Amino acid sequence: MVSFHHLAHAALVLAGLHSAAAVADEFTDPGRKIFERRCVGCHEGTPPSADTLGPSLVGIIGRKAGTGNSSVHSRAAIESDTVWTRSSLRRYLSDPGREMPGTFMPVQVQDPKELDELLNYLQTLR
Ligand code: HEC
Repeated sequence: MVSFHHLAHAALVLAGLHSAAAVADEFTDPGRKIFERRCVGCHEGTPPSADTLGPSLVGIIGRKAGTGNSSVHSRAAIESDTVWTRSSLRRYLSDPGREMPGTFMPVQVQDPKELDELLNYLQTLR
């Protein structure tokens, strides 16, 4: 027979593990680190999806370029037919101005491994 005491203890241990994992995630997710170092100055990653200097990236995967809750888009983005998928984001982020001439987005991420890590993180922004 498992006592209440044991169950309570197990629950506390699990809660502890869970928050330790969440903390580890926050500090070790390499994509999140890149995002916090290179993107948050201009882009929000958490709801409510407010614009700062750039459009919020909450829900970016599946969104059409230049839409979303944004007043900071270029004409190039608004008039483009691009829908943001992993592959279109990969092309855009590796060289925004070549992929979408006239875009206001100034940052490039060229390292393929960093791009993968960043895309993994962008996919979690909902
Ligand atoms: C100095 C400010 C700035 C920084 C830093 C920046 N961006 Fe941007 N970004 C912008 C602006 C402004 C736009 C709007 C571009 C347009 O409409 O042409 C944009 C557009 C985008 C878009 C397209 C959004 C949409 O709604 O179509 C994505 C995706 C994006 N940025 C990702 C990133 C990522 C990832 C990083 C970090 C590696 C980053 N940006 C860093 C300013 C910035």
